[in-house]
Amino acid sequence: MVKPSVLVTRRWPAAVEAQLAENYDAVLNTGDKPMSPAEIREALKRYDAVLPTVTDTLNAEALDVPRAQTKILANYGVGYSHICEPAARNLGMTVTNTPDVLSECTADLAMTLLLMVARRAGEGERELRAGGWSGWRPTHLVGTKVSGKTLGIIGFGRIGQEMARRAHHGFGMNILVQNRSRLSSDVLKHFNATQVDTVDEMLPQCDFVSLHCPGGAANRHLINSRRLDLMKPGAFLINTARGEVIDEFALIQALMFDVIGGAALDVFDGEPRISPDLLQCDNLVMLPHLGSATREAREAMGFRVLENLRDFFAGQTPRDKVI
Ligand code: DGY
Repeated sequence: MVKPSVLVTRRWPAAVEAQLAENYDAVLNTGDKPMSPAEIREALKRYDAVLPTVTDTLNAEALDVPRAQTKILANYGVGYSHICEPAARNLGMTVTNTPDVLSECTADLAMTLLLMVARRAGEGERELRAGGWSGWRPTHLVGTKVSGKTLGIIGFGRIGQEMARRAHHGFGMNILVQNRSRLSSDVLKHFNATQVDTVDEMLPQCDFVSLHCPGGAANRHLINSRRLDLMKPGAFLINTARGEVIDEFALIQALMFDVIGGAALDVFDGEPRISPDLLQCDNLVMLPHLGSATREAREAMGFRVLENLRDFFAGQTPRDKVI
């Protein structure tokens, strides 16, 4: 039997690549070089399946391929706002993602960022490495207590819920939630959370705000200068979702003029390019998109892609079909 042809756009964990190569006529990206939109367009003409990830541009232009050979885009990652939904639908493509398997690790990282920015851990590390530590003193790098404070979670999907679990059960935080749909009282009770109707209603009540909503046009600049002004002075903003959810220019102003206490970002608008002004903000912790970066999660994401492919080529609906 002829094996379906499959193109992987980035280097994947070795165990997953090995299994992929066994079951498919697979082209792996062993050089791990990001693919250009033109290369992606060519791939869509040649391969039965393309396995992209967040670094790939699959906008309307890239997907404007009238006689595409590709029938499935099996995305490596849970967020898929880099894939233009109407264009993929027009081509009759199936799109899948990899939910669940990275939720705990991503929430761990969001909690890491929250703690780092509250306790000024980034500033402390930078000072120490630069040889600037002059010893213990009562007023040195004094941060903010986390336990018992109020955390606002925007987007209460799997990752948002894992964040709430850590914050509530581990740190006794009060949880406010803003979500597109109404949540059941059982879910809210489990996290001792209260759902609010709007982001505007939530922001003035929170000491910390953590973003867990999808990216894309609908949530672009959800956090803008008006909403940053609604936050408590001294409050902290954490983003492990997508860079475009925050208006970065507005955030830089808010950080520079102490409108909020600080921010911690794992994702950036237009990453890996980082605005030089962000680098000037001391009250900002930055990580290079590490949310799901554990051995366990990255392997599980790959195997989840393989499950989706297997089902698709067996004529079944893949469990993680999003389009
Ligand atoms: C995800 O899974 O969405 C991560 O951000 C990587 O794309």
